[in-house]
Amino acid sequence: MTLLDGRATSKKIQEELKAKVDELKKAGKKVPHLAAVIVGEDGASLTYVNSKVKTCEKVGFESTLIQLPATISEAELLAKVDELNKNESIDGYIVQVPLPDHIDEQKVLLAIDPKKDVDGFHPENVGRMTLGLPTYISATPNGILEILDRYNIPTEGKHCVVMGRSHIVGTPMSILLGQKRNPGNCTVTMVHSRTQDLKSITKQADILIVAIGKPEFVTADMVKDGAVVIDVGMHRIPDSTKKKGFRLLGDVKFDEVAEKASHITPVPGGVGPMTIASLMMNTLKAIELKGQ
Ligand code: GUN
Repeated sequence: MTLLDGRATSKKIQEELKAKVDELKKAGKKVPHLAAVIVGEDGASLTYVNSKVKTCEKVGFESTLIQLPATISEAELLAKVDELNKNESIDGYIVQVPLPDHIDEQKVLLAIDPKKDVDGFHPENVGRMTLGLPTYISATPNGILEILDRYNIPTEGKHCVVMGRSHIVGTPMSILLGQKRNPGNCTVTMVHSRTQDLKSITKQADILIVAIGKPEFVTADMVKDGAVVIDVGMHRIPDSTKKKGFRLLGDVKFDEVAEKASHITPVPGGVGPMTIASLMMNTLKAIELKGQ
């Protein structure tokens, strides 16, 4: 079994990005500037966003963290988005989701300038991605493509089963892997909470991408021998023996599935760091698109 080491791969990508930033600096050009908006105090979301900002420092990008209270109104948040659209210094930005219930997420995503939408969540960018046009591909699916590519995992003609149909992961992942591209050219089946006889389908997967948001849902009996297993899940399980008071679990029961898989991503240290690396790649792309 080969462990797909997202941490090491992300570090390698960050080194490559840093070298490109150094070249920009040497040429007297602007370095990429990412802004991240977070609304509220959710611990996990704060950790993710802080990690994105910290990675900007590592690769030599500028970054701005905008922390807003959970009580902010939709109109106030939309005004902040408008401000970011107009701010020439900021090349790309993200609004961390989920947002509080009183804010219409779709309305906020629609208000983001598609050229600065480094998350690739704006409908225009989702449409471009679906048609295979140049755009920002959202960070998690792009990070998964990147790790498959960097480990030279063949995808052409393979049966890929994507578990989950979220707008952020499952849906774009199934579209991308079915496209005429490399990694891609897969035969894709998407399964979700209403799928009947789930196991009979997951057992056919050469590549199994799990993004269903249920801790340790995928067990060894659901996986074919030699499958490539990508675990997108990230759950904080309370555990008083741990320094942080919790441990992290994925959507896959790692120990038993690892015995059957040919390749598997761990949690933590798999898809998470790849998502961040891929956001950084998109932020560099933002500056390239501007032709600066
Ligand atoms: N919430 C979970 N993943 C993501 C992501 O990639 N981007 C944003 N903006 N919010 C998220």
